[in-house]
Amino acid sequence: MAFQGFVVSDWGAQHSGVYSALAGLDMTMPGEVSDSWLSGKSHWGPLLTRAIYNQTIPQERLNDMVIRILVPFLACDSIDFPSEESTPNFSSWTHHTYGQEFPYQHAGPIVQQNWHIEARSKFSDQIALNVAREAVVLLKNCGQNLPVARSDGIRNILIAGVGAGLDPNGYNCKDQRCVDGTMTSGWGSAAVNNPYVVTPYEALTEKAKEQGITVNFASETDDLDQVEHYSSIADMAIVVVQAFSGEGYIEVDGNYGDRKNLTLWHDGEKLISAIADRCQKTVVVVNSVGPVHMEEWVDNDNVVAILYAAPLGQFVGQAIADVIFGEVNPSGRLPFTIGRKLSHYVPIVDTLCEDKRPQDNFDRDIYLDYRFFEKHTIKPRYEFGYGLSYTSFSVSELQITEINPPTEYLPYAEEYLSPFHTILDDVCDPEDALFPHEDFDAYPGYIYPYLYNERLRNFDIDEKFDYPFGYSQEPRESPPLSGGGIGGNPALWEVLYEVTAKVHNDGKYQGAYVAQLYLELPSTLAASPHKMLRGYDKVSLQPGECTTVKFRLTRKDMSIWDSPSQQWILQTGTYEIYVSSSSRQIEVSGEIDIGC
Ligand SMILES: *[C@@H]1O[C@H](CO)[C@@H](O)[C@H](O)[C@H]1NC(C)=O
Ligand SMILES: *[C@@H]1O[C@H](CO)[C@@H](O)[C@H](O)[C@H]1NC(C)=O
Ligand SMILES: *[C@@H]1O[C@H](CO)[C@@H](O)[C@H](O)[C@H]1NC(C)=O
Repeated sequence: MAFQGFVVSDWGAQHSGVYSALAGLDMTMPGEVSDSWLSGKSHWGPLLTRAIYNQTIPQERLNDMVIRILVPFLACDSIDFPSEESTPNFSSWTHHTYGQEFPYQHAGPIVQQNWHIEARSKFSDQIALNVAREAVVLLKNCGQNLPVARSDGIRNILIAGVGAGLDPNGYNCKDQRCVDGTMTSGWGSAAVNNPYVVTPYEALTEKAKEQGITVNFASETDDLDQVEHYSSIADMAIVVVQAFSGEGYIEVDGNYGDRKNLTLWHDGEKLISAIADRCQKTVVVVNSVGPVHMEEWVDNDNVVAILYAAPLGQFVGQAIADVIFGEVNPSGRLPFTIGRKLSHYVPIVDTLCEDKRPQDNFDRDIYLDYRFFEKHTIKPRYEFGYGLSYTSFSVSELQITEINPPTEYLPYAEEYLSPFHTILDDVCDPEDALFPHEDFDAYPGYIYPYLYNERLRNFDIDEKFDYPFGYSQEPRESPPLSGGGIGGNPALWEVLYEVTAKVHNDGKYQGAYVAQLYLELPSTLAASPHKMLRGYDKVSLQPGECTTVKFRLTRKDMSIWDSPSQQWILQTGTYEIYVSSSSRQIEVSGEIDIGC
């Protein structure tokens, strides 16, 4: 694909030495062979060096790896090699101030590892808060019960559900695996610690206090007596229900990373029905990692409002409270479809393997989520892209302007890496690849590139290597048409059309609208969904205000990948263009004809 960057393996995803180098892998992470962490055993390390000396991997390939890895380093102005002042002054692995220099090897002197540098700022806090606020999705608001105001006769509220409060084990359990409190993130190796967490209980109570509203709280779901009592006296109940997931190496309640079902955790359904049976204004906040089954309660007349709050980080509770009390007008949109039946979804969760882990063989082509629902004409409960606002918007005046005339074929990209690429210092003497000096202090468990023993230095360059089928050292006759630039052939990123529409805020509140551009391709060579999201534009408008949303359709947006010819193809025919409020709610539409 003529990719210009460097290719790095996922953790433990390298499964061969010579083959992976020949196939284009440039960096292995973390370096060891799979499941043998800290062993110092690697598919590369000294073996890569050996494979260069025994001429199995061309030295060109090694040079190419080095160039690919160093170019981004140099491009980031990092030419300065670490000095005393520029060595890392924090550790991402420990909160302790002092520790061994090589903690995982239990080796080295005690050194200062952490200077406890303050990396947060007002700016980063504000971003974290705004991201959380803008992501809350309002799914239902019957009778305009939200936003809440004391003037609407709300004097007493109940806040309920395990998700409304703190987990008794804390909010920074190892890799975020605690599931008995507000969810700020999924669990797994990429989970980060919260500096603090504002729970829904805390933030909602703060707002209620300002308005003189009294608050009750019940997180217990095993014993519903107390919940029932509070519900019967509450003017409004806000119940936070949940569903968690994470990365597969951690199992929580039989969920091996991915969820084993689509129902709520902590008996959420029971809690909702206990409350909604007694309180006519029940607001359900779904704090979950994805779609959950809602049919048992979604149409309950007493469930007057439903919000979806993803794992939104440390400010998740504040974002929820800001939306419920109207400080923020909700503007999030669903990034997935919520179906009516389990059988309506892409069949994943109901096909657990023997080891109980969900398995997806990707045998449905490109029909995922809304594309799957549309292909099978299944009416969802809440579709991809859906989300309400406290105000209302209208969209009009679709305009399509040609920016660059479309052509059938891509032009060849210019060659890169040309003069740079020849390096003439051939390696020949394996004695050059020993440890730098005799008393080099090698740490056990570290991976070094040196040929440190006789066996490694011993090889026969006349021996034949069994290269994989199709491998050739001959240069290609022509570069691949699809490649040549960052992200492929630069012509793929050429803008062919600009699409604009007018958006007007018809309601009484300031609010943001997310205009979504969907594209339908002409009948195709390959499988093609009815609609494909090709852009979105979020605009914030005062009441009565109007603005223009703008989308740029690149050649790639309109092309399909044709496997047999290994090319991006721009088909002739009619392209339908929709500017929509969701994947199902088309506001204005138009057409583009590409002739032959
Ligand atoms: C060259 O060395 C590498 C690394 O040890 C090894 O995988 C490969 O089989 C060797 N090539 C030959 C022809 O022996
Ligand atoms: C921490 O290290 C970074 C990177 O070298 C440097 O820019 C920063 O000034 C250091 N901060 C302090 C407080 O030493
Ligand atoms: C679905 O999984 C959750 C979490 O493991 C569990 O609490 C719940 O009981 C399960 N639902 C059903 C119907 O088994």
